[in-house]
Amino acid sequence: MSEKTISGFSKLSKRGKIKWIVENFFKDPDAVTKELASYWHGNAAQQKVLDGFSENTISNFPMPYGVAPNMVINGNTYCVPMVIEESSVVAAASSAAKYWMHRGGFTAEVISTTKIGQVHFIWNGASEKIKTFFDDVKEALLDDVSELTASMEARGGGLKDIELLNFTAEQEGYYQIKAYFETCDSMGANFINSVLEALSKTWAKRINTHDGFDAAEQEVEIVMSILSNYTPDCIVRAAVSCPVSDLDKTLTDEEKLALAKRFETAVKIAHVDSYRATTHNKGIYNGVDAVVLATGNDFRAIEACGHTYASRTGKYKSLSHCEVKDGMFHFWLELPLAIGTVGGLTKLHPMAKRSLDMLGNPNAEELMMIIAATGLAQNFAAIKSLVTTGIQKGHMKMHLLNILSHLEASEKEAELTIAHFKERAISFSGVRTFLDNQRGNPSVKSRVQVTK
Ligand code: MEV
Repeated sequence: MSEKTISGFSKLSKRGKIKWIVENFFKDPDAVTKELASYWHGNAAQQKVLDGFSENTISNFPMPYGVAPNMVINGNTYCVPMVIEESSVVAAASSAAKYWMHRGGFTAEVISTTKIGQVHFIWNGASEKIKTFFDDVKEALLDDVSELTASMEARGGGLKDIELLNFTAEQEGYYQIKAYFETCDSMGANFINSVLEALSKTWAKRINTHDGFDAAEQEVEIVMSILSNYTPDCIVRAAVSCPVSDLDKTLTDEEKLALAKRFETAVKIAHVDSYRATTHNKGIYNGVDAVVLATGNDFRAIEACGHTYASRTGKYKSLSHCEVKDGMFHFWLELPLAIGTVGGLTKLHPMAKRSLDMLGNPNAEELMMIIAATGLAQNFAAIKSLVTTGIQKGHMKMHLLNILSHLEASEKEAELTIAHFKERAISFSGVRTFLDNQRGNPSVKSRVQVTK
């Protein structure tokens, strides 16, 4: 066995874990030890909270926490917290928010909030027999798990329905109980999974003891019980619209219409071509994920679900739509979003709690609308710049700041570099060359580039 393997790692103290890691995986153990420790939270109690979210933690991984102000949704103004590491995303959301603030803002509505769970099982026998048995015991099954669902029911949610699905044509003996849940302001993963596990047990027990089945039919194999992250009936819609004549005051009427039409074509392309649709939807999730993360929700679940939803017709397509009709520009988005504002990390993570405070402590439906509107804002900003100036202009401007920080430029150097590159193409080597020359010590490589 390699010396780089270990057993009992999780039992080591944090310092012990770091010691083993730096000694085995780094050439500069002291520097790395210091660096890892430098990201520990200054407050030990807060660090303990963060450590509690995961396992084998040795440090924290900071991500920028930004905000997009001026997001007007259904007449309410929000300052939207966004956690994201990509330059331009928060700037784009902010500029789209401000743009639409002057054009009536975003409208949003929650269409449905149903979450799904599944008990997957194998049963060998005549399909009609299990179907009849399920129909006969359905109410009893719901009753069997009522203790677990009672408090969610008291809040207006609960286990709303169950149905038996037969997949035996595709997989021998495979059936599923599909369960429909309402989970109010929580994302509900723990609730759903607990109910499903209880449901699977009582279902198996009822099959095992049913007199109408012979010995073979009394056998059932519960394969697994788990929520589905695909929630096509947990949908929110966000939209913007304005007269084409309001799109850009600096353009002529003809140019305004051309802009609207080109925007519409760009969205249509993302309905035709899955390669473009993937990038288009990625832009939407730049906004969505950033708010999902900032509010302590599960961005992996949200992304997985969104991409399945984008493929629901059998082809992966854009999640947003655009129509230019009767002098009006309409742009909208429908998105599945199973999120919560209670439970999970939402109140435990100190920054997630702050994010929810900043948003006025929304309920889950309000947060769905805020997230969808931010996704639409992001998509609007991306398409608008793609069909006009191109994305790189704004992107590289922001990227220049990262390059400057990487090259440890002083304030004065940064000022000179920004002025120099105002009308020039930005590249890492170009900026380094410029800085090297400013610093009076052009490297060989830089000199070659300068001469070129
Ligand atoms: C970059 O993170 C996102 C975009 O590529 C989205 C798009 O192309 O629509 C700009």
